[in-house]
Amino acid sequence: MSDRPVLAPTREELSTLLADARRAGRPVGLVPTMGALHEGHAALMREARARVGDGPVVVSVFVNPLQFGAGEDLDRYPRTLDADLEVCAREGVDVVFAPSVDEVYPGGDPQVTVEPGPLASVLEGRSRPGHFRGVLTVVAKLFGLVRPDVAVFGQKDYQQLALIRRMAADLCLAVDVVGAETVREAGGLALSSRNRYLDEEQRTEALALSRALYAAQEAAAYGLAPALDAARAELRAAKAVDLDYLEVTTPDLEPLPDPVPPGTEARVLVAARVGSTRLIDNMALRIGAATDDRDQQGER
Ligand code: PAF
Repeated sequence: MSDRPVLAPTREELSTLLADARRAGRPVGLVPTMGALHEGHAALMREARARVGDGPVVVSVFVNPLQFGAGEDLDRYPRTLDADLEVCAREGVDVVFAPSVDEVYPGGDPQVTVEPGPLASVLEGRSRPGHFRGVLTVVAKLFGLVRPDVAVFGQKDYQQLALIRRMAADLCLAVDVVGAETVREAGGLALSSRNRYLDEEQRTEALALSRALYAAQEAAAYGLAPALDAARAELRAAKAVDLDYLEVTTPDLEPLPDPVPPGTEARVLVAARVGSTRLIDNMALRIGAATDDRDQQGER
């Protein structure tokens, strides 16, 4: 395809644009987004390109009302389509699917939605009831419209990624769901479209989230409690950070066994408000590695 990217505001245009690739059997890559694109999204586009080669990469730009609760930031969520198209052009994206709400939900709110199951009642789901039903419903619709072979999501939204993987497996959706590493600013702040709500002072305070996760990673060598203590100390020191949750789970977001066997792989996840902006972040960690190493060296 030339003159990339081509903007497709309707399902029909999207389908026409992908028809040749489908006929030729070329794989289709999808990067679902809500726009306000940044370097983190660009990395997802590069991952999609690496996976589909000369097949088309589609980026969807759609602020999905179904995943916003009452009092959340649906109205003020940044809508920056011109700038988004420039990011997509730089990354060699073929099609930008940017439908209206009516195009995605022609009859208003859908009667049938995707029930996300128990994984949606912890962490983000506890603070944002209904959020993941909205996410999975729109992602299922995008999978139906684009019919991608590969879909790429960021690990920053770790629970979302886990639920989308679960949906694809449980509903036998023929799509390879890929999770890409979180992209961070030099200071450690995870890139997010919502970072643009932060003023200079809040941006500095927000660094406490990634600092807390790095501190947990380091202290995890000595056990779960030291990891949580180290993270909490960083968060407490940032006065403008209003903590929602800080939790360590298995990589599948299940509760950890008690006691935690040395060398256990885990995930630490945090959500907090800085001013009126809700931020989330997460990292992998390994619990009890230091104790385990000492065991292996016969020092105990
Ligand atoms: O992560 C996002 O930007 C959104 O939740 C997604 C996956 C595009 C669904 O609206």
